[in-house]
Formats: sequence, structure tokens, C-alpha cells
Amino acid sequence: MYLMSVTMLLHRAVIPHLRQACRLKSAPSRLYIRACSTDDSLQPQCPSLAFSGDNSSTGGWKVMGTLLGLGAVLAYHDHRCRATQESPHIYTREEVRSHSSPETRIWVTLGCEVFDVTEFVDLHPGGPSKLMLAAGGPLEPFWALYAVHNQPHVREMLAQYKIGELSPEDKAPSTLKTSDPYIDDPVRHPALKVNSQRPFNAEPPPELLTENYITPNPIFFTRNHLPVPNLDPETYRLHVVGPPGGQSLCLSLDDLYKFPKHEITVTLQCAGNRRSEMTQFKEVRGLEWNIGAISTARWAGARLCDVLAKAGHQLCETEAHVCFEGLDSDPTGTAYGASIPLARAMDPEAEVLLAYEMNGQPLPRDHGFPVRVVVPGVVGARHVKWLGKVSVEPEESYSHWQRRDYKGFSPSVDWDTVDFDSAPSIQELPVQSAITEPKDGETVQSGEVTIKGYAWSGGGRAVVRVDVSLDGGLTWHVAELDGEEQRPRKAWAWRLWQLQAPVPAGRKELNIVCKAVDDSYNVQPDTVAPIWNLRGVLSNAWHHVHVHVAP
Ligand code: MTE
Repeated sequence: MYLMSVTMLLHRAVIPHLRQACRLKSAPSRLYIRACSTDDSLQPQCPSLAFSGDNSSTGGWKVMGTLLGLGAVLAYHDHRCRATQESPHIYTREEVRSHSSPETRIWVTLGCEVFDVTEFVDLHPGGPSKLMLAAGGPLEPFWALYAVHNQPHVREMLAQYKIGELSPEDKAPSTLKTSDPYIDDPVRHPALKVNSQRPFNAEPPPELLTENYITPNPIFFTRNHLPVPNLDPETYRLHVVGPPGGQSLCLSLDDLYKFPKHEITVTLQCAGNRRSEMTQFKEVRGLEWNIGAISTARWAGARLCDVLAKAGHQLCETEAHVCFEGLDSDPTGTAYGASIPLARAMDPEAEVLLAYEMNGQPLPRDHGFPVRVVVPGVVGARHVKWLGKVSVEPEESYSHWQRRDYKGFSPSVDWDTVDFDSAPSIQELPVQSAITEPKDGETVQSGEVTIKGYAWSGGGRAVVRVDVSLDGGLTWHVAELDGEEQRPRKAWAWRLWQLQAPVPAGRKELNIVCKAVDDSYNVQPDTVAPIWNLRGVLSNAWHHVHVHVAP
């Protein structure tokens, strides 16, 4: 009895640690075999668990029991591993179905393979609840929705949890129909560089990004987490929850048009812009955005403060947040959501919009038709598209994207140690700039080189200077700033910049660098290493482009 409980305890305590140890390394399948073996290399981990805090006279028995228990656990796993490797254990779909809770353990299938993902559930980047949707069944319907899973590193990670295969009779494709949830997505512009098709995520190529101060709608970067909802403007209603004891509003598009129309130029940037540079330094999880997860538009709509006031909301002394819900949702009906502080929402100077126009047109479907939130100076994630509901709450939105994503961490934090509750949600973004011309690897003419790019800072902070270097940061030139004049504390849009500089004689290569300075004298960090974070957000180190000089 005692041995059994020690064994069970160890099963719970040791195996996850061993598996975690496996996950930290780069060769998961080899390490999985190590975790399941009883070789000496594992022993340093075991005594600390076996002896911890044990001063009683029964200590010797406990140690013995523990070791026996550990042996049993390891032997069991050794057996399971070998079984998996030599002749896979065969399970029926019925058996898989019966493993759908932490108590029975959580199994899933992919193709004909069966996986026990119990230990992985809490580590699932999309949140445990999302993985639990697939518990006891096939992953395919969910991977069809979140195609980001279909990558070698995800398959490798899953391989660690393989416990067997489906019986031949059950190998036929699951009867669960996977109707394509993206079938109704809009047609996109072919110039966009696609980072993921399902959900659709794409950015304009650098050479088009700064062609115009206002980004044309068809090439404005798109960041979707779910399929694009197809909403009928006639029946569309925005639900604005009133204060306690007050009246809620149910607004049609015509009702929204009756509020004073407010129009502003706002740059929208995703927190993951330039993530690919972080990946080059060290692996991160997320879409591989280049420098184009940023775009600028003229947005028009009703001011959020006017709509909230109409619903009877006022600024209150205590902390409060305005929560937004999109009409895009996952198979459980969970909608995309985010929030901003009430103080920003109620401040007329903050110019938060419920926008229904983008560059003089109704919003395109990818950008939130018919109504989206535009929060000037704030990270893209809070600009909720396909807006369905607005409410004022004492706490931030409970959405996954507010609480379990879009947060920054120390470079020392990894997926085993991250505590999302310990960091604030990203709101205002830091100062940013990038070079759009010339392109990395291009050959430029000797004599003079023209360098172009964009610069922007969050919170309405104006860009006051962009410094450009041709020699990796040893010497600097000041670039010329173009674009709309910026209003004090309301510099919501980017500055485009350019520099014409002589190419130093005899140079075969140039290491072009840019960095921007905002009106709080914030400046970009010189390298990625000190700002690297596991999710690859807030990537704003000096941007480098290497070019060859024509002989
Ligand atoms: N709103 C909804 N409803 N669903 C989403 O997936 N993505 C957010 C935000 N609003 C998203 C959303 C993120 S992360 C960003 S960066 C911006 O929309 C991108 O806006 P865009 O696609 O118009 O460029």
C-alpha cells in the first residue's frame, strides 16, 4: 500500500520532471528514451526527491520504498517506451475516448498514432482549455482551425508523448467531420507575404510598406487568430453593457453613424512585429513576422468615450477596464477578446474609436467589418475586430489574449517557468524603427545610397529623430523625417524617413543600421539578446540590413 502510494507519488512527481528535462533539450525523441531508461545518468535527480525532509526513524524504509517505487515507475516507462518502439501498443478509438480527463489521463490521436498528453496540458501555449477540447479524440479538427500546429517542432514535441497506435479497424479517418472553418475567408492580395493561411496572417513586403504614408487597405498587414466571421451589416448589433442599474445599448450601424464622426491617422503594430529577428537569436514560439506587422490607415468612426457616456458610464475612482469581445470564435464559442483601462477609453484626448471606415471605405472583412476598436498608441492586440460586445469591468478581460499572451518577460524565463500572471498585459508599445530599402543582401551602387524606413512609438510619443549608420553603428547620420506633422502627445502615426548618404570609398559591403528616438528620449536597444523573450514580442532592437556595394 505504502509502496504503491510512493510509486504513484513518484509517478506524478518524477515523470513530469523527467519529461520537462526532455523538453528543454533539442533532441526530444532520443531524450524521451533516456527519461524512460534506468541508466546512471538519471540518478542525480532521484536522491533529492527520495531524501528530502526525511528525518524519521522510518526514513530507511521510505528511502527503500521510494527507490523501489522509482524503479517500478522507470521500469513501467521503460516498458512503455520499448513497447512503443518495438511493436506499438494498439488501442481502439473507444479506449482513447475513455481517456479524456486528468483522472483517467488525457489521450489524443493524430493520424493512426495515440498520445498521452496529460503532462503537456498545462504547458499548452494556447491554454489548457483549448487542448482539453480534443481530449479523448483526434487533433485534426483543431489543427485544421489552428494550422500553426502543423510544424515540425510541434510534431517533434508531440512525438515525446506517443504511447501507441490505433487498431487497424480504427485507423480509417475519424467520423468527426472537419468542415473547413476558413472556407468563407475573404480573397487576399497576392503581394502579401503569408505567415499562416489558417488563421490568415500576412504582411506587406518591405519594399511596398513605405511606398505610401497611408497603407492601402489590400496590403495592410492582417493578424487573425480565428476564421473571419461573415457579418450582415443589416442585422449587425453592437451590445454595450450599461453600468449597474443603468440601461444597456444595442446599436445598429445606423445608430453608430449618429454619433459624431471622428477621423484620425493611426499606425497599428502587432506585438510580434520583427519576431523573426528574435528567433535568429534563440527559438521563440509564434508567427515569423518580418518587419511588416505594422501599417497605417485613416480610421473613422464614433469615439468610444461618446458611446460609453451614452450608455451612462463615467470615469470612476477605482480601477476599471473596458472589455471588448469579437464575433470571431473558436469551436467552443470562445470569442477573441481584449481590454484597455477605462481611463484611456473615457479620455476624449486618447481618441479611442469604434471605427467603421478605413481609408474612406467600409472596413474590409479582414480588418473587422463592420466595426472594430482602434486604440491609438496601443498594441494591435487591443484593437478588437468584428466587435460584438463592450462592457466595463473591475478587472482586465479574462480572454486568453489578454492574460496568457501578449506579455513581456525576462530573457531568463522559459516555458517551464513562465508565470503569465506576473507580468502586465502589453498596452503602449516601445519606440520602433526599421529599414525597408535597400533589402538585405541587395547590391547597391557605389557613390550614393538611398535608405528608407519607418519609425513609430507607442502612447502618442512622437518620433523626434532617426539615426542611420552605414558601418554597423560606429558612425551615424540623421535621416530626414517625412509624413504628417505630429500633435504633441497624440503622435498616433508613424514617420517615414529617408537618408541619402555617400558610400565610403573602397567599401565592398555596408552594415546599415537604424534606430529611432521618441520625444521622451526613449531609444531602441542595440541588440536582441537583452530583450529576447519566450514569446518573441516587443522586438525593437536596432534594425540591420547588410548590402553589397557594386564594384
Ligand atoms: N480582433 C479579433 N476579433 N480577432 C483577432 O484575431 N487580432 C488582434 C487585433 N484584433 C484580432 C483582433 C491582433 S493580435 C492584431 S495585431 C490586430 O487585430 C491586427 O489588426 P489587422 O488584422 O487589422 O491588422
